[in-house]
Amino acid sequence: MSPRTRDPSPPRSDAPATDAPPTDSPTDHATGAPKASPVSGQGAASSSVKAPDPTRTVAKSSRDLLALRGMGTAELKELLSRSRAMIPAAMGRADQSHILRGRAIGLLFFEDSTRTRLSFTMAAQRLGATTLDLASGGSSVSKGETLIDTALNVEAIGAAALVVRAKQSGAAHQIAQPAKVPVLNGGDGRHEHPTQALLDALTIAESLGRSAAFDLKGLTIAIVGDVVSSRVARSNIAALTALGAQVVAVGPPTLAPKSMASLGCKVEHNLDQVLPTVDAVMMLRVQFERHGTEESGAGPKASSIVSVRAYRDGYALTSARASMLKPHAVVLHPGPINRGLEMDQDVADGPRSAVLRQVTHGVAVRMASLCWCLGVPA
Ligand code: NCD
Repeated sequence: MSPRTRDPSPPRSDAPATDAPPTDSPTDHATGAPKASPVSGQGAASSSVKAPDPTRTVAKSSRDLLALRGMGTAELKELLSRSRAMIPAAMGRADQSHILRGRAIGLLFFEDSTRTRLSFTMAAQRLGATTLDLASGGSSVSKGETLIDTALNVEAIGAAALVVRAKQSGAAHQIAQPAKVPVLNGGDGRHEHPTQALLDALTIAESLGRSAAFDLKGLTIAIVGDVVSSRVARSNIAALTALGAQVVAVGPPTLAPKSMASLGCKVEHNLDQVLPTVDAVMMLRVQFERHGTEESGAGPKASSIVSVRAYRDGYALTSARASMLKPHAVVLHPGPINRGLEMDQDVADGPRSAVLRQVTHGVAVRMASLCWCLGVPA
């Protein structure tokens, strides 16, 4: 990725963030990218690439981490190997607290989060940085301030980088336009969740003996469940296919529509046929809160699963289904898990499960990502 350049007159809005459409702003069905600006309401938001502005280049070595779609394989591998190198420090077994000492990282979580928010916090702390921690419930967003104004104020207070989580697809891109500091996307609507996919790729590579070069050629990875609502799935499809893996999206036609094949994955509806063929299986939560109406283009209708029972019958990773997997196959889930719906207790806690390793790797990935975005050698 090239050093970032800035738009001198980015689109701004006085519309309060609370007026911004929550999950039902029209998005592209396959990419999850917004068709119109989700935060400013002006103009179309780019899915991953900002229009370069030759007149204004700041902080030569800094860069955003907004999406994995479009990122080159070499850059992905560099981020993954930097993340792997951070694992000892992430686990408290090595000290890297000199790297960002004296800096502050703005954590702008406009949507609920446990793992992403806490692991960015831990990552900042392990690197010696402090955090400016905003939770939307306790901020001026609830008084009508826009996400962009809030972000620029946190930058003005002194944040060296901004991590943004929002329910609007494209929110991090919109904030990155006027921000002078690097912006990391901590999950935007149904669009992308780049650090989650990096930690997933790191976990898969490590579990399957591919973490020396992060070459995933010859591996098949299933992503199962509510794929169409999932920013985790979209970032994973981008990353895993760029690393050479074959990705199969599996779910009922309402949640894994054939149109998702345009992202470079296969789409299947029969989980029992797919399971014996895969090296890793990533289960997704049914994201009821992101189900909108078809008219809005927001994704599947609220009635997109016939019943919880029917969904479980077809798509839950039960103990019986897990026994169909190849002996070495690994099971992942980004969390939060709805035990009993998408995954059985025994599988979530069983020997194949990499779920908690994913979470630990999340700290290492976020340490590496903060350094990478700030242009700090690590
Ligand atoms: C995911 C998210 O928020 O996108 N969780 C996470 O970040 N670990 C997945 C989800 O909400 O189901």
